[in-house]
Amino acid sequence: MKAYRAAILRFAADGDPHRCAIYDEDGLLVVAPGASGVPAVHAVGPYRELAARFPGVETEHLAGRIIAPGFVDLHIHYPQTNMIGAPAEGLLPWLEHYTFPEEKRFAASEYSAQVASFFIAELLRNGVTSALAFATSHPNSVDALFGAAQARGMRLITGKVLQDRHSPDGLRDETEQSLLDTERLLAKWHGVGRLGYAITPRFAPSCTPEQLRGAGLLAAKHPDVWIQSHVAENRDEVAWVRELFPAARSYLSVYQDFGLLRERAIYAHCIHFDEADRALMKESGAAAAVSPTSNLFLGSGFFDFRGADRVGYRYGLASDVGGGTSFTRSTPCWPRTTSAARRSRPAASCAPD
Ligand code: GUN
Ligand code: ZN
Repeated sequence: MKAYRAAILRFAADGDPHRCAIYDEDGLLVVAPGASGVPAVHAVGPYRELAARFPGVETEHLAGRIIAPGFVDLHIHYPQTNMIGAPAEGLLPWLEHYTFPEEKRFAASEYSAQVASFFIAELLRNGVTSALAFATSHPNSVDALFGAAQARGMRLITGKVLQDRHSPDGLRDETEQSLLDTERLLAKWHGVGRLGYAITPRFAPSCTPEQLRGAGLLAAKHPDVWIQSHVAENRDEVAWVRELFPAARSYLSVYQDFGLLRERAIYAHCIHFDEADRALMKESGAAAAVSPTSNLFLGSGFFDFRGADRVGYRYGLASDVGGGTSFTRSTPCWPRTTSAARRSRPAASCAPD
């Protein structure tokens, strides 16, 4: 058993999600081996209330430090690690000119393994201990990421990207094989240690109706696996979906029509929504992944937090690397400045860094 004395930020397991943060300025965290021998939280709370219960336990005093739970990144692309900051005139040209060519490189297992281990190390270095990540359409890219996460004991959910149209040679998959690969990878990795599988249609424009239908059938057959995709990120993308699926009420309802909206479905962006879309998110139990740095970098727009809260649907923060520009921050920040530079600027521009 070992204890740590520091400021501690933690979250109550239940109750109002907006008010569940608990902060102990002078806290104590007691760690002991859990059921599987891995260190687990034994007790946590204010130092003055807990210390007397653990006399003689070795205590490390981390004065001036804050202990917090690991961060969760709700949407990130590991194959985009090496193209962060690629220039773009919006989502669709960015995918065509930078993202797809880089993702084609993951046909090679060695490249997948090299990027996967760097990516996992980078997440952990930034305090992220759980992530829902895209791989590429190549099955070996999924094996590489699961393998790297397993080696570091990370909570990682990923899946083979489904994209059987509007994608270049070397990245486009074949409808039937893509669904067979999904089922094989799901059986191999889902529930292994801290790993989980996500059925991963890239976004409606890159999937034929047959592929979306197959993905929905797999999602119904395996209700405990996750679903991840993109929706309503960019105005040109929304217009394209309207052309491709003219019978659908909205972009989001394309996914509903194919059985891809349910609990454990996480949709990235959710920017260009109307009130009916928000109600559909709430009714279905799906959640949004919100990526402010990506939305700014790609000029996509802003997530409507008030609209989501009004309806009461769930959302969480995400980096969306490589549309997002940092593993550290999912929200934009001002560049670091010296205190002298900060003093010399007008107060209105002294946003926190
Ligand atoms: N929509 C479809 N694919 C992608 C992607 O890789 N990144 C982002 N930001 N949006 C997408
Ligand atoms: Zn994304």
